[in-house]
Amino acid sequence: EKGGYEHFMLKEIHEQPKAVQDTIGAYVHEGAIDFSETGLSDEIFAGLKRVYIVACGSAYHVGIAGRYVMESLAGIPVEVDLASEFRYRDPILEPDSLVVVISQSGETADSLAALRLAKEKGHPVLGVVNVVGSSIARESDYILYTYAGPEISVATTKAYSTQLIAMYLLAVQAAKIKGKIDDERYAGLLAEMGTLPEKIQKTLDDKERIQWFASKYANAKDIFFIGRGIDYAISMEGSLKMKEISYIHSEAYAAGELKHGTISLVEDGILVVGVLTQSALFEKTLSNMVEVKSRGAYLMGLTTYGNYNIEDTADFSVYVPKTDEYFTTSLAIVPLQLMGYYVSVAKGLDVDKPRNLAKSVTVE
Ligand code: M6R
Repeated sequence: EKGGYEHFMLKEIHEQPKAVQDTIGAYVHEGAIDFSETGLSDEIFAGLKRVYIVACGSAYHVGIAGRYVMESLAGIPVEVDLASEFRYRDPILEPDSLVVVISQSGETADSLAALRLAKEKGHPVLGVVNVVGSSIARESDYILYTYAGPEISVATTKAYSTQLIAMYLLAVQAAKIKGKIDDERYAGLLAEMGTLPEKIQKTLDDKERIQWFASKYANAKDIFFIGRGIDYAISMEGSLKMKEISYIHSEAYAAGELKHGTISLVEDGILVVGVLTQSALFEKTLSNMVEVKSRGAYLMGLTTYGNYNIEDTADFSVYVPKTDEYFTTSLAIVPLQLMGYYVSVAKGLDVDKPRNLAKSVTVE
């Protein structure tokens, strides 16, 4: 059942090219996005003034990444909320807005309660769900299924990757219908999205280096992940993967926030992972890396091929293929998933069933 892999998590990490391919294939037909299966019409996108994304855990991190893409590409203001906060804060939802609930299981108690609250307030809900027929799928007004297939490991990997695709598709479709991008850009974005499965595969093919690095850092006490913009969203997910299955204390920080407090924790030998996939922010994050290095941090840099000057600062560098910068999350997350996985294996932990955690959190 593990298909020759030692753990479900490793199997599911390797299933990502197919999961991403299947999710794109479900909604992109003959060079155009076809949302007929979801119930979302062009009119809904045309009139859309605001999007509220609500989710928990990794799905929340997808929402943060999705916000950058939707705001910047489609020009739609997006708010992202943790479901457990949203449901208790009496949120003010503006007219002509869409509430998007992201959930792999479709059974997460807080996400389901958030969905019900939005509906009570008279707002339509789009569920981005992996498990067919789950509670969130049944109660949503519109449903965009992700096609990751069954995910067994508690730590999500392939479902997360397909949820990202859902965000890209929504952003590209909204951008097109709202006239924010022309036909050429639309076609270019969809073509680039189509290359993600093979680029994810290429990233997976480099896994030995990550395995080596992970075994070297398996005894780390604290790890910091830093990035800006989309790279901050990737950092949050990389950090969660690490703490969830390897039990190493880790934090994700918006790189610019470091000097507002956290940098005081940086001391000799501490591992800092810098994520730098966005060219406009590269120099900024690099300068934050220089700052932590001068305080003794050991630096891993994660960037795209071509940015070789990162080696002047980082002690260990990992490269992922270039793609449209809106889509790099799909590639940059892979080495971080692998890192969490291999640290957990090196420590002899129960990778697929980490302590105190359940695959689906059906109580609040
Ligand atoms: O089933 P859901 O997507 O609603 O689950 C949300 C979180 O519980 C989930 O993403 C959790 O954070 C993962 N175990 C992280 O790997």
